[in-house]
Amino acid sequence: MPESPIRKLVPYAEQAYKDGKTVYHLNIGQPDIKTPQIALDAVSSHSLDIIAYSRSEGSEEYRKKIALYYESHDIHVKHSDIVVTTGGSEALLFAFGSVMDADDEIIIPEPFYANYNGFSTASGVNVVPVISKIENNFALPPIAEFEKLISPKTKAILICNPGNPTGYLYSKEEIKKLAEIVKKYDLFLIADEVYREFAYDGHQHYSVLQEESIHQHAIVIDSVSKRYSMCGARIGYLVSKNTEFIKTALKFAQARLSPPTLAQIASEAALQTPQSYFDHVIEEYVERRNTLISELNKIEGLKVAKPNGAFYCIAELPIKNSDHFAKWLLEKFDVNGETVMVAPAAGFYSSPNVGLNQIRIAYVLKNESLVKAVHILKEALKVYKD
Ligand SMILES: Cc1ncc(COP(=O)(O)O)c(C=O)c1O
Repeated sequence: MPESPIRKLVPYAEQAYKDGKTVYHLNIGQPDIKTPQIALDAVSSHSLDIIAYSRSEGSEEYRKKIALYYESHDIHVKHSDIVVTTGGSEALLFAFGSVMDADDEIIIPEPFYANYNGFSTASGVNVVPVISKIENNFALPPIAEFEKLISPKTKAILICNPGNPTGYLYSKEEIKKLAEIVKKYDLFLIADEVYREFAYDGHQHYSVLQEESIHQHAIVIDSVSKRYSMCGARIGYLVSKNTEFIKTALKFAQARLSPPTLAQIASEAALQTPQSYFDHVIEEYVERRNTLISELNKIEGLKVAKPNGAFYCIAELPIKNSDHFAKWLLEKFDVNGETVMVAPAAGFYSSPNVGLNQIRIAYVLKNESLVKAVHILKEALKVYKD
């Protein structure tokens, strides 16, 4: 199993705290936004006598409400098209296990969410990367590039929309292009849409489930983690109109018995979160993104792709090895006792030796902290030697 490129630096950060340093965490997608009160209240006032298992696919009542949530996003699914999982992470594992056998292949535009590598390894399947480029903000690579990679072992294409780590939001046209290719080669199109709500600058998120012609091919990975800032609840879902797929995924769900019961109560309540909560959160992220990008652009030799979704961006630094740089920041560098933690981007690629000079930045800190963190990065780059 590969290490998480995000979590592997934690021991260095812990040492930095012990050394008395303040560390700005630009490395991890743990939002600092408050969880909706309605979700917290639902847990503190529950009336259960026993915290029992729920149904393996999640309680019917909850899934019916999830279907209504999708309806409000112009996605038409029934509760029977949904399996509640222990986070989007488990949804990914179930999807991989359900659509692929050992040694099958999955095509993924890279850079991609690093744990796709881990889930592929755990499922015994091979990631076939197709490179998207910082020069065009990590837009969908030309379809011809996908076609070149399709082999008899290819079972699926996986996208993350909007993207972690790129922040790129695929357009309706790009989703339609993917729909054509999965139909042509009879593949699954797995779309990780856990950041669906986080679309900026007037852009609309377009779900693969809105593309009717691929209803038998489309699988959505979803999660409450980022939507309601409920990462620790560990609730996600698999959604597909392909009944054979749902039947197979349910076998995986039965093997692990049940998604967490109390967290389903919180997540069901969270569905009542008013739109004003999201409006406020999106406003906050847009402001942070604007601050971050404008501060980063002041650093000489740094290149950054402007994100229009999620809360991450990839920056290319004027250095050779960001893995070494990230450790050095924690071990050897500070500005008045303060330093930053970043995620080296090589772990977000499966192609070897790509992205070595890139880092992923998560803008989950308040504006003032972002400004300070980028200032530290700027000072560090002045003195750092590869
Ligand atoms: C793109 C993407 N997919 C899936 C996940 C998994 O999230 P969770 O298991 O908390 O739902 C994450 C978490 O950061 C993510 O960024």
